[in-house]
Amino acid sequence: MLIKKPDDIKSSEITSEESYVNRRKFLAVAGVATAGVLGSGRILSAMTPAKRQDDKPNSWTEITTYNNYYEFGTGKGDPSQNATNFRTKPWTVKVDGLVKKPADYQFEDLVKPYKLEDRTYRFRCVEAWSMVIPWQGIPLAEMIKRFEPLPSAKYVQFTTIMAPDQMPGQRQPILPWPYVEGLRMDEAMHPLTLMATGLYGKTLPNQDGAPLRLIVPWKYGFKGIKAITRISFVENQPKNTWQLANADEYGFFANVNPEVDHPRWTQSSERRIGQFRRQKTLMFNGYAEQVAKLYTGMDLRKNF
Ligand code: MTE
Repeated sequence: MLIKKPDDIKSSEITSEESYVNRRKFLAVAGVATAGVLGSGRILSAMTPAKRQDDKPNSWTEITTYNNYYEFGTGKGDPSQNATNFRTKPWTVKVDGLVKKPADYQFEDLVKPYKLEDRTYRFRCVEAWSMVIPWQGIPLAEMIKRFEPLPSAKYVQFTTIMAPDQMPGQRQPILPWPYVEGLRMDEAMHPLTLMATGLYGKTLPNQDGAPLRLIVPWKYGFKGIKAITRISFVENQPKNTWQLANADEYGFFANVNPEVDHPRWTQSSERRIGQFRRQKTLMFNGYAEQVAKLYTGMDLRKNF
């Protein structure tokens, strides 16, 4: 994100996955309660502000060949090229800090108790491109409850695996490694927050963060840390990688906010990958109704 502005993706790379996501499923995740929604004009109009010109999910090819994953290179096409042999089995996630049940969990044991959910979310990168992505995963709140955090746990910190032998980017000082991210506890427990294990109903491809990555749809995409290997419960606000790299440009909260520009470009509009016309960026990426209350009384210019 420090290095270059997004480049265009060739239209020849675009395939359709329309068959996968039906409209009903999309409405369910656009932030509206599920049953009865389609029949009710009143509820439909209530969701209109959050719905844009075209929220058709991006294709599998777009989602898996246009990536940011600096451990595998800084180009958008690098992760799909360089992550093919990344080993995600076996995979251990260390849960530690202020919890009653700290442990090293095997990936399979970590996900076994849950039914995977399909959630199509808008995804807004801080670089002002966006996609619509049909994720599959587990609400983070459900996973966290199982660890039994202590009342003193105010934040959750996530850490990506350190594997310079497999990740060429980690052999260079492009970013401080390993990649880290954090959420306030109420953000982590919010029902929209997802631990993704798949997309389009298939296992998450390596370039998209296999086997486990975070999705917080009202925040800029960089909060979506990939290949998570540690989840720590802490008392003080942890720093994230982009803050560590450039604190003037990237903050802890990183809520999508069209009114607060990045120092080097506007955040008021965005380009949906696969489309030409730019569209207006929505407050909290269109999820304000569900999440604005988390930030009541906070100065969002200061807490960017
Ligand atoms: N996680 C790790 N470990 N390393 C990264 O470089 N890039 C972030 C985020 N998670 C990144 C990461 C950024 S800047 C974005 S925009 C999203 O991943 C991109 O996710 P995508 O490639 O699935 O679209």
